[in-house]
Amino acid sequence: MKNIIDQIYNTSEATGDELLRLLNNVDEESTAYLHLRAHEKRLSVYGNKVFMRGLIEFTNYCKSNCMYCGIRRDNKNADRYRLDTETILKCCREGHELGYRTFVLQGGEDPFYTDEDIVTLVKAIKSNHPDCAITLSIGEKSKESYRRYKDAGADRYLLRHETNTKTLYEKLHPDMSYEARIRCLQDLKEIGFQVGAGFMVGLPGQGNEDYVKDLLFLKKLQPHMVGIGPFIPQQDTPLAGANSGTLETTCIMLSLVRLLLPKVLLPATTALGSLDPKGRERGLQAGGNVVMPNLSPTNVRDKYLLYDGKICTGDEAAHCRGCIERRIQSVGFEVDMSRGDHVDRLTQK
Ligand code: SAM
Ligand code: FES
Repeated sequence: MKNIIDQIYNTSEATGDELLRLLNNVDEESTAYLHLRAHEKRLSVYGNKVFMRGLIEFTNYCKSNCMYCGIRRDNKNADRYRLDTETILKCCREGHELGYRTFVLQGGEDPFYTDEDIVTLVKAIKSNHPDCAITLSIGEKSKESYRRYKDAGADRYLLRHETNTKTLYEKLHPDMSYEARIRCLQDLKEIGFQVGAGFMVGLPGQGNEDYVKDLLFLKKLQPHMVGIGPFIPQQDTPLAGANSGTLETTCIMLSLVRLLLPKVLLPATTALGSLDPKGRERGLQAGGNVVMPNLSPTNVRDKYLLYDGKICTGDEAAHCRGCIERRIQSVGFEVDMSRGDHVDRLTQK
């Protein structure tokens, strides 16, 4: 397997057959080699820095009904909340004082917030903190809406494609369409956002053929960011009884994405840290270079429960800031509190 890994390292290219052969045959030794090569690649592009993003989960209302997600529309046990503008701005102020220079505003697909509300919010954050980048992660919208957010000052947009296997996508997302999801990602790129796509690992019915499709899709899309995390079941969803994705497969996917897209911004996700106490550290060692600590107010943290066992639900923002810094340093990396733009966008600030 080393020859395929070296080839991807040297060329950032792989065919579907090569990726499938690799995934079907990786053993402990080749996995360790893959992580090592991914680590070297990340060092060559971003050094040993880890970028920090302050995450604000501002609404858990959602009109979608994704089978895996704890804040899906049909989950009557979800304790719903929305943050008002003042509270969101307060989270940003606190985050700014702690050193954050990127704020990620994430929520369910909540029509309560109009485009005008989002535009007003983005402008207010930019006016208070002109040195900060804003990332939105609020789901599928029209191209016109995306354009308005960009014009208001939003810099980046995260919209995971979730899985690039159309049949699996449709099984997991009743009343959504795979084509619409891909269209949104293309619209976001055309408008000029730094775009994040990504997928879950270990979804029921997902296998190596599916991961190959995800990897080839990402290679073609060339996003600036890729979010990869394990699927973890949530007790009030139709997938409550399913198994979680594994740390091992998630880290293999992180390393492959680092080799295929060397400049990508790649978070070691909270889901990975929730699956395993050292999950985020392992994700960083596999090629990840971003972490997204939580800045949401503590009284709503335990309500944004996408999956069971989510970490940090009781912790103050300052506590997470210190905790994550120690974790980053414990595996030999260094915290970078700058905006952390994609290397191709560094002149655009
Ligand atoms: N509504 C926005 C969207 O659809 O992009 C953003 C919020 S959505 C809850 C954020 C991400 O959470 C999804 O893209 C999905 O990959 C992840 N997620 C949801 N349920 C999950 C679960 N049970 N396990 C792991 N990740 C999950
Ligand atoms: Fe929140 Fe460790 S990052 S407690």
